[in-house]
Amino acid sequence: MTAASNKPSLIALVGMPGGGKSTVGRQLSRRLELPFADSDTLIEARIGTSVRDFFDKHGEAAFRDVEESIIDELTQRGSGVIATGGGAVLRESNRTRLKERCVVVYLRSSPEELYRRLRHDTQRPLLQVDDPLGRLRDLHQQRHPLYEATAHYVMETGRPSVPALVNMILMQLELAGGAVPPKP
Ligand code: S3P
Repeated sequence: MTAASNKPSLIALVGMPGGGKSTVGRQLSRRLELPFADSDTLIEARIGTSVRDFFDKHGEAAFRDVEESIIDELTQRGSGVIATGGGAVLRESNRTRLKERCVVVYLRSSPEELYRRLRHDTQRPLLQVDDPLGRLRDLHQQRHPLYEATAHYVMETGRPSVPALVNMILMQLELAGGAVPPKP
């Protein structure tokens, strides 16, 4: 599939924090010559502060409300690549919108791999705890079924480099007949 195919394409990446959604999404959008959007970046523009600060001041539920409205807006775009926040699948409305309006790719990573990448992170509010690996394991256990239920395709992030992962996603989309949102 190339940009020359001219098919309307909206691709959303879901998965745990630290799984590479933003990095992979940006490269995928370049290869497809489609616009890229990162839901957390748009949320921060909307709330006028960092996600972490907003969590501290207003709590997770308020953050999820903003996230839900951004996911609704983003999934109504005609084409593009969207990197979602790791918790976007928690609300059923988001899962439904993503699944019905986009081709959804789950970047699947193990909690141990995520911990290796995120152990020095200070920006993700849910990981600012004494035992971040334990938290990642709990989050993974809770969310893995939700990511699987939302996604049309699952890609393991473990071994491949980012460009290799992007190639694998492109091949998968091409095999499936292009990045056209599937009929419900
Ligand atoms: C969250 C993941 C973050 C961000 C917020 C909540 C989560 O996005 O939306 O900190 O619940 O896992 P990334 O997945 O891009 O880190």
